[in-house]
Amino acid sequence: MSNQQSKSSRPSVRGGRGPGGMHGGGPIEKAKNFKESFKRLVRYLSKKRGPILFVFFMAAGSAVFAIVGPKMLGKATTKIFEGLQGKMMGIPGAAIDFAGIGQIILIVLGLYLISAFLGYIQQYVMAGVSQNIVYDMRNEVKNKLSRLPLKYFDTKTHGEILSRVTNDIDTISNTLQQSLTQVITAFTTIIGVTIMMFTISWIMTLVTLIVLPMVMVIAQGVIKRSQKYFKGQQKEIGKINGHVEEMYSGHSIVKAFSKEEKTIEQFDEINERLYNVGWKAQFMSGIMMPLMNVVNNFSYVVVSVVGGILVINGRLAIGDVQAFIQYSRSFTQPIAQTAQIANVMQSAVAAAERVFEVLDEAEMIEDTKNPTVIEMPKGAVQFDGVSFGYDEGVTIIKDMNLNVRPGEVIAIVGPTGAGKTTLVNLLMRFYEVDSGTIRVDGVDIRDMTRHDLRSMFGMVLQDTWLYNGTIKENIAYGVDDATDEEITAAAKIAHADHFIRTLPDGYDTVLNEEATNISQGQKQLLTIARALLADPTILILDEATSSVDTRTEAYIQNGMIELMKGRTNFVIAHRLSTIRDASTILVMNDGEVIEQGNHQYLMDKNGFYADLYNSQFTGADLTGRAS
Ligand SMILES: Nc1ncnc2c1ncn2[C@@H]1O[C@H](COP(=O)(O)OP(=O)(O)O)[C@@H](O)[C@H]1O
Ligand SMILES: [Mg+2]
Repeated sequence: MSNQQSKSSRPSVRGGRGPGGMHGGGPIEKAKNFKESFKRLVRYLSKKRGPILFVFFMAAGSAVFAIVGPKMLGKATTKIFEGLQGKMMGIPGAAIDFAGIGQIILIVLGLYLISAFLGYIQQYVMAGVSQNIVYDMRNEVKNKLSRLPLKYFDTKTHGEILSRVTNDIDTISNTLQQSLTQVITAFTTIIGVTIMMFTISWIMTLVTLIVLPMVMVIAQGVIKRSQKYFKGQQKEIGKINGHVEEMYSGHSIVKAFSKEEKTIEQFDEINERLYNVGWKAQFMSGIMMPLMNVVNNFSYVVVSVVGGILVINGRLAIGDVQAFIQYSRSFTQPIAQTAQIANVMQSAVAAAERVFEVLDEAEMIEDTKNPTVIEMPKGAVQFDGVSFGYDEGVTIIKDMNLNVRPGEVIAIVGPTGAGKTTLVNLLMRFYEVDSGTIRVDGVDIRDMTRHDLRSMFGMVLQDTWLYNGTIKENIAYGVDDATDEEITAAAKIAHADHFIRTLPDGYDTVLNEEATNISQGQKQLLTIARALLADPTILILDEATSSVDTRTEAYIQNGMIELMKGRTNFVIAHRLSTIRDASTILVMNDGEVIEQGNHQYLMDKNGFYADLYNSQFTGADLTGRAS
């Protein structure tokens, strides 16, 4: 409404993990202040301290029960081995202890079942907790957005704001859901497995632990390298998306300027670069697993050889070697996992930081606790030493003084960027004045609620704001209890009734999304009817006829004149013909009122206004006024 620059949402390039990202590690976004944001995120978690602690124990328990499994199975292997050995050596009565093995298998089965059950409970509780936390967060952001001043939205694209409410919160939710429990499981597993390995053989454990750093160094190296390419890949994907989007949305422009070849060339260039980084990134992430396997197999060989020697020397049972190999194999996974989780955590904290940034934004000044209510608004408006700028240090409105009596027509003219719409923004309190006071009927607008203030105003803007609904609904927008008679009456006064009746469905005609099924002038008549029905004390017409041709303007003019009757009117117009009869004309330039008076007075003065007027009407008058 107040800002007419349209903002396009940009294609979301950010936030995604590169293809195959989890393995190779896509680009990681870093939080600006990791420690602070992390602490703050933890504070959110601490609200659900109890359930989270419960989840911790469940996750740890699940890991512990799973860890005991291999050692028990090892015992079964030893029993089989001993039985066979006894038979081969011909010891009388030697047999495989099947009953004992059966018992062991049952126990292992039980352990795994308990582990799975605990894992299940842990996931169940964590899903509830994490959804609960992000539910609250989403609510908080939503409430915050409604308390933010328009100023905030001026500085952000819609895409950016959307992405904070959706993507960022999603990232947090996913991380809470998965990574938190993974961390616990991974740590428990690493510690548990190390302990188990030590209980089996410290020599073999040492061998494994020496190989481990090698795995980590290799993983780190590959991740670091691939990261560079993934970043490049991500960048080029963003570029190619942007390029394609631009070229297709501006299809007709490309064709009109015969830029097809140039466009294709540009595309080829980006595509080439994408190919170059793309295959490297994919190769790097693909090479990770085989490399890890080589190192793993190396440790496998060493463990087997050392284990074999120990068994031959009778210092170790064969089942223990089997269990050990199983443990050492389950060692690398949690380690690779923690490296990954560290990345995921980084993104989550970065996402949380962006959400916190929104939550920390300065809010709109709250409505006063004891608002003044104007029972019978008359429509007097006073600007008293008002200064304002959108950005600090740039004053747009400078020390503005203005006194408008009820029922007056105030025309505001001046070149584009003079500050005309800004004046309206201040009057409607879309923005707060930096200094000075605006009064309506003698009451400082800050002493009223925004709702009461705005309900005194009606606006007809250049952009006709209609929505996908029937004509009737569109006219009645803002007046909930309007009867059909009132709607028709308003349409009649607005000179809209006639054209509406010629439509096949009359007042029940459904306007499509962009309201392209009626003409621009007809749209404007509908918004005039709407304003009429709302019957505001003060009316603002901000370039209401700027986007229609002069013939249509003349057609709307009658509706406009009816609409203006009996209220205070602020008329901002490009075409000066529309405002000749205003009681006062404010001539603005660079945020200042440089001339003020009625048409005749200003023409006689032969200043800025007279120049403006003459330049418009020397040539334009022939076609300019249809009447
Ligand atoms: N939302 C905004 N944020 C920052 N600057 C703005 C904003 N809206 C308008 N401006 C600037 O304020 C000045 C006055 O704009 P405006 O009041 O819209 O002019 P006009 O007289 O054409 O209606 C211009 O320089 C414009 O660039
Ligand atoms: Mg404007």
